[in-house]
Amino acid sequence: MKTWLGSSWAVCALAIVLGIFISMSQSAGQVTKGGAASAVERGKYLVSITGCHDCHSPKKDAAGHVDETRPLSGRPATTPAPSTTAGEIHTALDLTAWTGPWGTTYASNLTPDTTTGLLARRYSEASFVAMFRTGKKPNGVGILPPMPYEMYANMTDDDLKAIWAYLQTIKPVRNQVPANVPAPVATAAPIGKK
Ligand code: HEC
Repeated sequence: MKTWLGSSWAVCALAIVLGIFISMSQSAGQVTKGGAASAVERGKYLVSITGCHDCHSPKKDAAGHVDETRPLSGRPATTPAPSTTAGEIHTALDLTAWTGPWGTTYASNLTPDTTTGLLARRYSEASFVAMFRTGKKPNGVGILPPMPYEMYANMTDDDLKAIWAYLQTIKPVRNQVPANVPAPVATAAPIGKK
């Protein structure tokens, strides 16, 4: 009897310990899942308030409404560069292409398309954050205007990682953005001086 009681207590104790262990591991799983999901949510929120769509999303009308069929896919491959006038900055109607003293720049495809998006240009979470910190792309080339990376460099690593996480979840759009045409001499002269 004593032995029977003893062993049933042991079974009970084991069940309690196992129960605690299982519920702990489940809640740990939930925390991890919740963390990843909330990073994506935060990234989405940050992208929606920091103007990325202004330059990186093609628009469906001249009032600047984002074309929801291809958000953040960069300068459409098929559209020509804006006009150029010395001493002025020109942009396309959809703000995805720019000409200025630095040359002609085209907003990049930020979608996870593996042939034309960020992944095709050797971006990872680490090199994405590094670009905002150094102003250099993974291939070492400096970021040209008007990408305001110096302003975004004020974001925390967690915020930039959240943006990266969100960008991995958006619709991949195959769009080969035209190559930039940098001006022969980099010009950052003070405005109004020759
Ligand atoms: C005022 C316009 C503008 C805004 C706002 C803007 N970008 Fe850009 N971005 C550009 C342009 C133009 C380029 C291309 C610059 C170049 O290739 O040198 C670029 C390049 C980039 C690149 C480099 C990609 C590559 O091909 O190496 C990344 C990453 C990027 N932008 C992310 C963002 C994110 C994220 C936001 C919002 C937080 C943002 N940009 C907001 C205009 C903008």
